[in-house]
Amino acid sequence: MTADRIKEIVAQMTLEEKAAMCSGADFWHTEAVERLGIPASMVSDGPHGLRKQDQEGDHLGVNESIKAVCFPAGCGTAASFNRELLNKMGETLGNECQAEGVSVILGPAVNIKRSPLCGRNFEYYSEDPLVASEMAGALIHGVQSKNVGTSIKHFLANNQETRRMSSDSRIDERTLNEIYLAAFEGAVKKEKPWTVMCSYNKINGVYAAENHKYLTETLRDKWGFDGYVMSDWGAVNNRVEDLKAGLDLEMPSSNGVNDKLIVGAVESGELSEEVLDTAVERILNIVFRYEENRDKSAFFDRDKDHELARKVAEETIVLLKNDGVLPLSEQDEIAFIGKYAMKPRYQGGGSSHINSHKITSALDAVRGMGNISFAMGFDDKEDKTNEKLLAEAVETAKKAKVAVVFAGLPDAFESEGFDRQHMRMPDCQNELIEKVAAVQPNTIVVLHNGSPVEMPWANKVKGIVEAYLGGQAVGGAVCDILFGRVNPSAKLPETFPLKLEDNPSYLSYIGEGDMVEYREGIFVGYRYYDKKKMDVLFPFGYGLSYTTFAYSNLRVDKESMKDTDTMTVSVDVTNTGKMAGKEVVQLYVADKESTVIRPVKELRDFAKVELAPGETKTVSFTLGQRAFDYYSVKLHDWHVETGEFDIMIGQSSRDIVLTKTVTVESTVKLPFVYTTDTTMGDVMKDPRAVEIVKILIEKQDLFESENSDSESGVASEAISDEMNAAMAQYMPLRGSVNFGGKVTMADVQALVDKLNALED
Ligand code: BGC
Repeated sequence: MTADRIKEIVAQMTLEEKAAMCSGADFWHTEAVERLGIPASMVSDGPHGLRKQDQEGDHLGVNESIKAVCFPAGCGTAASFNRELLNKMGETLGNECQAEGVSVILGPAVNIKRSPLCGRNFEYYSEDPLVASEMAGALIHGVQSKNVGTSIKHFLANNQETRRMSSDSRIDERTLNEIYLAAFEGAVKKEKPWTVMCSYNKINGVYAAENHKYLTETLRDKWGFDGYVMSDWGAVNNRVEDLKAGLDLEMPSSNGVNDKLIVGAVESGELSEEVLDTAVERILNIVFRYEENRDKSAFFDRDKDHELARKVAEETIVLLKNDGVLPLSEQDEIAFIGKYAMKPRYQGGGSSHINSHKITSALDAVRGMGNISFAMGFDDKEDKTNEKLLAEAVETAKKAKVAVVFAGLPDAFESEGFDRQHMRMPDCQNELIEKVAAVQPNTIVVLHNGSPVEMPWANKVKGIVEAYLGGQAVGGAVCDILFGRVNPSAKLPETFPLKLEDNPSYLSYIGEGDMVEYREGIFVGYRYYDKKKMDVLFPFGYGLSYTTFAYSNLRVDKESMKDTDTMTVSVDVTNTGKMAGKEVVQLYVADKESTVIRPVKELRDFAKVELAPGETKTVSFTLGQRAFDYYSVKLHDWHVETGEFDIMIGQSSRDIVLTKTVTVESTVKLPFVYTTDTTMGDVMKDPRAVEIVKILIEKQDLFESENSDSESGVASEAISDEMNAAMAQYMPLRGSVNFGGKVTMADVQALVDKLNALED
């Protein structure tokens, strides 16, 4: 429908109808206005499956929804580093929505994994904003190609569940832009999600729902977002202020209470009717976009989609350790140990919880193979060792050639609504792993968890497989990996620290009361561990394969460029092993010298490539300004510092295989204002400035020590040349008044005025 036609419809609506349009009709629908042909439009969770509730609605996954397909959660899909796969998953979700009459699926969820403790990390993608944004973009692209909308969420800085409806995320400007906004930015700009969901929390003192700065100035004015913003369920605090800030749709219904406030505000003149009209236009634009592109022939084939869920799961499973024990032989006597072999933990609790139409466990997947024994080992209802189950498990493990322990985090340990208290697995499961490993040298652990765990037994087992929360088909996918029918190709989209205390947010996570200060700044995840040169359990970007890859011939199409230009980087990747496999090629960039504090390196692009044994492919990347820049608080914009940068190709963030140095020249000059506090060192950087302040230098002996040529004496011992130079360098211009005695403050001010008058 054209923008003009929508305006005509809005012009025919009463004030009451327009106010009502800005909040849900019920839990999941927008309002209908029959006399004007406006249909109700349904939205549903998201993000990794369709949680469509037909009857009683709720936002916590309490009441039953339709039978659907649970795909791997964000923690896993990000590990695939495979945009095409996410696009395919998006297409499938879009088709399911078409078949079920859902106009917008509530996802993807891109909040940064600031701490392993966030209860909702399982839904989120990464500690790295590029990974989050790129994976989200691919999913959005797929869903929206089916003429169904997405709702990228939760905007903004919602990185913990504790007090999620009242906490105040205090974040400095640079960190917000480089880390927390960046997770949304690329996806919003490139893929234009139909809607954005604002979060519950405050950002620097202002609720996300009423934050004009982010909902309007950033999202719309800077990034060009043209859909509607909806609230998270119940995130509205002050309906009229929210509308002014750019929050179009309140969800769910306020049962008319807030509609009245809107009407009253327009009538009293407090709210301009134009603001209301704009919000209604934005909502109707999406309602009709969906309605006019309904695919009445769409069919939700659950079994077919289950197969895709399995394919996706295969690429979300990260092989963390393999001391030659994997892949398993189908002929060996193998003991499957642990409850999760029979009943996998494959999704998280809360609003993303899918009513799965079927679930494949690892035991289901090996049914019919005579050589697999099973012992439950533990129950996850409480963290208590069940001695009988433990003894059975140890016996079963002892008799086999290999033991595979299926362990992880129970629902009670991680979920929407609360944060984890520690990073450990249940003690009873750790004990089980230790005891099994003590009797069985060939022990492998398969983990089902949505966020990193500490692994005190890591050195005692021969294999570790991170299956994340792999969706309803996870059992089949895990067995494909274990038996080598599929070559693992996932990489960690987050660091696994050795212990929780190593995490950069540890000292300030989850805040004091509602006040949550992001004191680690930009140093989130590997940006911190690298800078501190810390050992980690498994680094960002890490994951093993059953084959090996070699990299060669890293080249660029130009060795230097302006920041307005682009550069092509190419590298050859060869499969040097015996099995076909996929490799995630990671490109990091490091600023070799910088006047701002920067991470050692940052991931700037990645690609997944499939290679037959012996095959070589060339992978190319195009790097523009954003591959080299940082967010300048002086410019309130991105900025590249002129100089050399290392382009690094890595198999993980800690395994850089090739490096090439290039030069990038900035076309933007940072504003510099001289004051009487400007140091001599800073003045010296511009020869024209030196010329102007020469008079200060001449009028006093600032740079000369009386004892400088004396070889002996107390003074010469106390004042080294280095110290003298440093004192001079850091001496503010006004210092010449104090030291020389021959210059007045008025003289200094006059020089400062002259300096500021210098042309750029
Ligand atoms: C969650 C959202 C979800 C909404 C609707 C909220 O509690 O934070 O992610 O989309 O409920 O279920």
